[in-house]
Amino acid sequence: MRELVEHLARCHKLDATALGQLLRSAVAEDDVLQLLRDTAVRTARQQFGLGVYVRGLIELSSFCRCDCLYCGLRRSNRTAERYRLSSEEVMECCREGYALGFRTFVLQGGEDGTHTDTWLRELISKIRATYPDVAITLSLGERSEESYKTLKEAGANRYLLRHEAANEELYASLHPSSKGLQHRLDCLAALKRCGYQTGMGMMIGVKGQTIEHIVEDLLLIERMQPEMVGIGPFLPHRATPLGEEPAGELRLTLATIAIVRLMLPHALLPSTTALATLTPRGRLEGILSGANVVMPNLSPTSVRAKYAIYENKASWGKEAAEGIAALNSELETIGYHIDFSRGDYQP
Ligand code: 5AD
Repeated sequence: MRELVEHLARCHKLDATALGQLLRSAVAEDDVLQLLRDTAVRTARQQFGLGVYVRGLIELSSFCRCDCLYCGLRRSNRTAERYRLSSEEVMECCREGYALGFRTFVLQGGEDGTHTDTWLRELISKIRATYPDVAITLSLGERSEESYKTLKEAGANRYLLRHEAANEELYASLHPSSKGLQHRLDCLAALKRCGYQTGMGMMIGVKGQTIEHIVEDLLLIERMQPEMVGIGPFLPHRATPLGEEPAGELRLTLATIAIVRLMLPHALLPSTTALATLTPRGRLEGILSGANVVMPNLSPTSVRAKYAIYENKASWGKEAAEGIAALNSELETIGYHIDFSRGDYQP
């Protein structure tokens, strides 16, 4: 396995067979996982030193037209509490976030039909005019290329749209009544054409996903060369069809993050909230697998519990923007610190 890891670190790619072997072996054997993670950490440190970028996450709306099997915000979940922020509330989040030192705002939300181009354009323009030096990241799902273009021109810089599954059948099984994998990939291509720094990604351990599926995800990521990749464990939400399924495995999640780091040395890789929710040390374990970004929650405290894509989602303490000092102290325990710069992708 040492040869495979060294080859991956040097050439930034492996074939499907080798990726499968490496993932299986990293899950089964401590020394392989350790070697993979240490190599990924070394690569990340060469690019980013001991700094970890922070992004303030503002959850615009818990309304969603989609019906993804795994997600607590799926439209079939009648028990989900729905809310949407006004532009004034979003601007207030930005004001607080800017004062705390955040220089990236991530506007994330369900696919809410009231988020028209006009409404979003005005919001983004206002943020852009008030804070010329911040990066604005959008994470608002599938929209038309025209819409992506309008929002880019209003001042957005980055867009997160996880591909969720590179395998057609797995994608279809998780996303009934969606437009399908090809449409998702078309959206990602449109985002790139519009000039966004683009993010993709997937959950680890969702029902029906095999190691071979993760290999397909990795090969797609390698082919697409995204600027950002979000990877976290699947976590069950009881009011969804996958509510009784087990959570994704920590070791497999960390191995996958480490492989992505070695494939894309310059990529921005978050140590996700899902990882921090799975296990108390999750956020640190992500950093110690090559991740270099954390995304504390900057939503108004009154709505935080309502953005429940999975249960017990961490949004307080070190996961909260106002807990940034505690987050920094936690990072210091492994020798890292928060880097408050915008942290754009630099090839
Ligand atoms: N567990 C973990 N991650 C989830 N997501 C949605 N539902 C869950 C869940 N139950 C992820 C999806 C989505 C992102 C916003 O969160 O990958 O793209």
